Amino acid sequence: MNKIKTTQGLNRREFIRSTAAVGAGLIFSPMVLGETTTGAVAKSDDINVAIIGVGEQGRTLLESAVKIPGLRFKALCDIWTEFNQKYGANILRAFKHEHNVYVDYKEMLDKEKDLQAVIIATPDFWHSEHTVACLKAGLHVYCEKEMSNTLDGARKMVVAAKETGKLLQIGHQRRSNPRYLHCYNKLLKEGGILGRITAVNGQWNRSAQLPFGYPNGKGIDEATLTKYGFKSMAQFRNWRWYKGLGGGPIVDLGSHQIDIYNWFLEATPKVVIASGGTDYYDKKDHEWYDDVMAVYTYETKKGIVRAFYQTISSSCCQGVHETFMGDQGTLAISEAGSKGEVYREPTAPQWDKWVKNGYLIAPPEKKEEKSDSGALVDVRESAAPEMYKIGAEFKEAYHKPHLENFFNAVRGKEKLNCPAEVGYETAATVLKVNDAVEAGCKLEFKPEEFKV
Ligand SMILES: NC(=O)c1ccc[n+]([C@@H]2O[C@H](COP(=O)([O-])OP(=O)(O)OC[C@H]3O[C@@H](n4cnc5c(N)ncnc54)[C@H](O)[C@@H]3O)[C@@H](O)[C@H]2O)c1
Repeated sequence: MNKIKTTQGLNRREFIRSTAAVGAGLIFSPMVLGETTTGAVAKSDDINVAIIGVGEQGRTLLESAVKIPGLRFKALCDIWTEFNQKYGANILRAFKHEHNVYVDYKEMLDKEKDLQAVIIATPDFWHSEHTVACLKAGLHVYCEKEMSNTLDGARKMVVAAKETGKLLQIGHQRRSNPRYLHCYNKLLKEGGILGRITAVNGQWNRSAQLPFGYPNGKGIDEATLTKYGFKSMAQFRNWRWYKGLGGGPIVDLGSHQIDIYNWFLEATPKVVIASGGTDYYDKKDHEWYDDVMAVYTYETKKGIVRAFYQTISSSCCQGVHETFMGDQGTLAISEAGSKGEVYREPTAPQWDKWVKNGYLIAPPEKKEEKSDSGALVDVRESAAPEMYKIGAEFKEAYHKPHLENFFNAVRGKEKLNCPAEVGYETAATVLKVNDAVEAGCKLEFKPEEFKV
């Protein structure tokens, strides 16, 4: 029989790991300040907030959000009354947020009339309904990725945001991460230090995992599970593996990083090919494939880019990264602060000015190879690229800057870093991989597929 993991143990470990692994506090102002955003709160800086879904991710977001000044959590909604709801409420109590708890979001929206914003961290198949209802109730919404497990669901969210004029931030938190902003704004846009980018390579491989379980006597009754779209506690806890509930690993993990492909390449792809299958787990409780490899073709302003991505469920070897390769250098970055290197090709122009202005940190020793006669040796063929570190660090919890960006946008002080339209482009990019796996052939994207 399979052993089970409890939510709580994993959550604490993952939370500690996520906050401990990031690097040191440099904050860049990501957007123009002072710009008024449609529907933003005008009079007061205090914002009344609710949260729907306080599982692994909802609690991670709460832990960050309660440290942001001026937020008042007034309501918490979660269907798992015996566990997650209590856990989330305890966090709010610890930070002295007086709040009401709900099982059903409709009741919450009915009763809580002074909310201005909501954080949604329910399973993907609930995002569209929750987001549309909250926008229509007049709330600004921070909704976790993946925006939706279907393109239709994502489309409805974009339409609702447009119609209501309320803000909708999608939880691709790398978009607000100071290290990623540094790479995009300083190294790529201003410096163009990679030259012409020709290829991208990225991955998030996951070690084989036991299914998530739940503490004895703390399950949800069958009627409630059914009402909220789950066939059993096992499915409720492991919703990611089920079609109709999650969007598969390319959506769950890949969307974080493929979103960066689109962002850094300033393009959406033209073509995708993909191969995937349920190779490791039992198909009966893993409806989605567990291995997938995809190759996109982008046509960027500087030329064609081939972009590979894989997510494999067996060994997490070589970590999580996005690696952009150009004819003058390579940038390898990861959300974990431990990875942030830029390699200069021996034939590329010197990067001294980017070191002087702090955009890059130089390698400890600069080697200059000279022959016996004192002449410089031609290093074009032989020398390995020099490794620089990116000149930006970040030591806070991963999600905090993205939440701050959202709440600052609600206050009219910033623009959203990942508005609905951007989230939609990413959803269209990753969901097509599932079609490509099914079809077993190359699929093309039409430009209109990325727009609502
Ligand atoms: N941005 C990130 O780095 C990141 C990381 C992990 C998860 N996520 C996203 O966060 C979301 C939640 O993932 P998770 O890992 O926390 O899942 P989870 O299963 O641990 O938590 C989901 C929570 O939602 C509750 N819930 C389910 N249906 C509900 C409903 N109809 N109304 C109210 N509550 C409901 C459940 O009881 C549970 O507490 C997913 O969309 C996931 O993709 C994002």
